[in-house]
Amino acid sequence: MTEHARVPGQLPGELTLRRPTPADHPRLRVALAEWWGGLGGEAGARQRQLLVPRLFLQHFADTSFLVERPDRTLHAFLIGFLSQTEPETAYIHFVGVCPEGRRDGIGSALYDRFFATARTAGRSQVRCITSPNNRDSIAYHTRMGFRLEPGDRLDDHGVPVQEDYDGPGLDRVSFVREL
Ligand SMILES: CC(C)(COP(=O)(O)OP(=O)(O)OC[C@H]1O[C@@H](n2cnc3c(N)ncnc32)[C@H](O)[C@@H]1OP(=O)(O)O)[C@@H](O)C(=O)NCCC(=O)NCCS
Repeated sequence: MTEHARVPGQLPGELTLRRPTPADHPRLRVALAEWWGGLGGEAGARQRQLLVPRLFLQHFADTSFLVERPDRTLHAFLIGFLSQTEPETAYIHFVGVCPEGRRDGIGSALYDRFFATARTAGRSQVRCITSPNNRDSIAYHTRMGFRLEPGDRLDDHGVPVQEDYDGPGLDRVSFVREL
């Protein structure tokens, strides 16, 4: 973590923000494997990679962001889109900040950008889901003003879990935030 004055919605230091392109796909795959602290082992890494296929960089680039360091290496990213089915909804599919860049306002800066993009597009709520075992993600989303949606059961931490949400054994926690 670097020392600097945090300005809501702004990136610190020399970091730059841009839209992703399909050429960014290989390094996003590396980040998806390496930035989740080994969550789910090799199968988890593979699952995350397959959840962000190239199509997101081809067809959802206008609502997605990539943060780079001065040397152009990847620092953070957000993959999001506007729901085609629910005109009031925007959806954050994946977010990641490199392990050494956390708790420095980058995640919230990316979310603030996405919220602004969604508001400009007339959206009034943002949705996302996460795995029940991703405690960091649950803490972060709660801090970012998301509400936990009701589940089928409460886990050991009192978090409502929707069982088999994405298939047998693939439980999820669902969040919504008004804009
Ligand atoms: C979740 C993640 C994106 C947060 O990014 P970040 O840049 O560290 O978040 P920020 O520094 O902007 O934090 C925003 C707020 O959330 C809080 N927060 C962030 N991570 C937290 C954690 N693990 N536990 C508790 N609070 C947390 C911060 O304290 C901050 O609150 P504050 O404004 O009161 O200080 C980052 O930890 C990450 O990439 N994790 C691995 C990937 C992942 O799990 N992604 C989410 C699921 S797709």
